[in-house]
Amino acid sequence: MRRLPKSKPGGIEQWGDLFMPEEASEPILSRPVRGALTEWLVEIFAESELAAVGVKPRRRAIFDGPPGVGKTTLAHHLAARLGLPMLAVRPDRLLSKYVNQSTEQIGELFDAAAAGMEGDNGVVPIVLFMDEIDALAGERRSATQAADDQRNQQVNTLLQRIEQYAGFLIAATNHGGQIDPAIWRRFDMHITLALPGQGERERILARYLDPFGLPSAALKTMAEALGEASPALIRQFCENLKRQIIVGPKLKLDMAKGVVIDRLLTSCHPHPDLGKPRLWSLGAADHAVAVMPWPLPKVADLPALEAVAETPAQPGDNVVALGRRP
Ligand SMILES: Nc1ncnc2c1ncn2[C@@H]1O[C@H](COP(=O)(O)OP(=O)(O)OP(=O)(O)O)[C@@H](O)[C@H]1O
Ligand SMILES: [Mg+2]
Repeated sequence: MRRLPKSKPGGIEQWGDLFMPEEASEPILSRPVRGALTEWLVEIFAESELAAVGVKPRRRAIFDGPPGVGKTTLAHHLAARLGLPMLAVRPDRLLSKYVNQSTEQIGELFDAAAAGMEGDNGVVPIVLFMDEIDALAGERRSATQAADDQRNQQVNTLLQRIEQYAGFLIAATNHGGQIDPAIWRRFDMHITLALPGQGERERILARYLDPFGLPSAALKTMAEALGEASPALIRQFCENLKRQIIVGPKLKLDMAKGVVIDRLLTSCHPHPDLGKPRLWSLGAADHAVAVMPWPLPKVADLPALEAVAETPAQPGDNVVALGRRP
């Protein structure tokens, strides 16, 4: 694998966190979203053929969706597929500098991102990831106060810099409806990441329960009990279950199935703005708990376990890429 840049103090990391390709993991996504992303990647690698017909690959994408659905994970995964490091800009860093120096900070960030990073073999381009872009790009208002005026200028600067930026830019927001419409239009790809459906929840459960596993009927029932849960919450549920399995006996805790489930549900809750999955209402009384084998079997001991397969993305699955601003 190509060697990537080493961190340099005071370098590009002053604006946020650097994510390296080898640390990325692939999020489990719905088929339409996977279709859109596959198409985007193919387009990026077909740059010269596209140039021959007078178009460029799209380079600016915005992901909109509730917390914990994988927006950051997906941006990192895409950067890794391009073989590039990703700079995840922390809006707090930009905003705290912003107060005094206003639009200059945005300009400096984009200049630094466009310059890329020093690698062992020369300059390496980066993917610029602007998380919580709504914090910087809220809708402009008619300026009745100096603060509005300053804020509008910031949005105008961001607008210009996004338009001029030739590198890969990905933005994410939990509040697509609050983004200034002109900023929204500067992104040539809009992807909505929704909460996972039943099939995705099954795959997410299987991934994060590993090395344990559930027979397919129990997996299906548990995925139903986790309806409306974000992938992040499902991950937390699975990881807490594994912690209970290892740590509970050391602490001589009651390891009866229902007691373990109730104990872990008390320390892991859905985001207050999202729906409450059935499991959190019924706890150990949920049918999914009744049918869950206990102790949890290892995947290796479940020879009859059906593989939880991904349905391949189909061409034309990319309807979400044409989404409107919410
Ligand atoms: N679709 C997914 N498939 C597998 N794991 C996921 C998925 N989405 C999120 N996760 C896991 O949940 C955690 C949070 O994900 P991530 O930070 O990417 O979400 P986000 O949408 O960026 O959230 P936020 O809006 O809070 O920034 C990560 O540990 C990630 O591994
Ligand atoms: Mg995120």
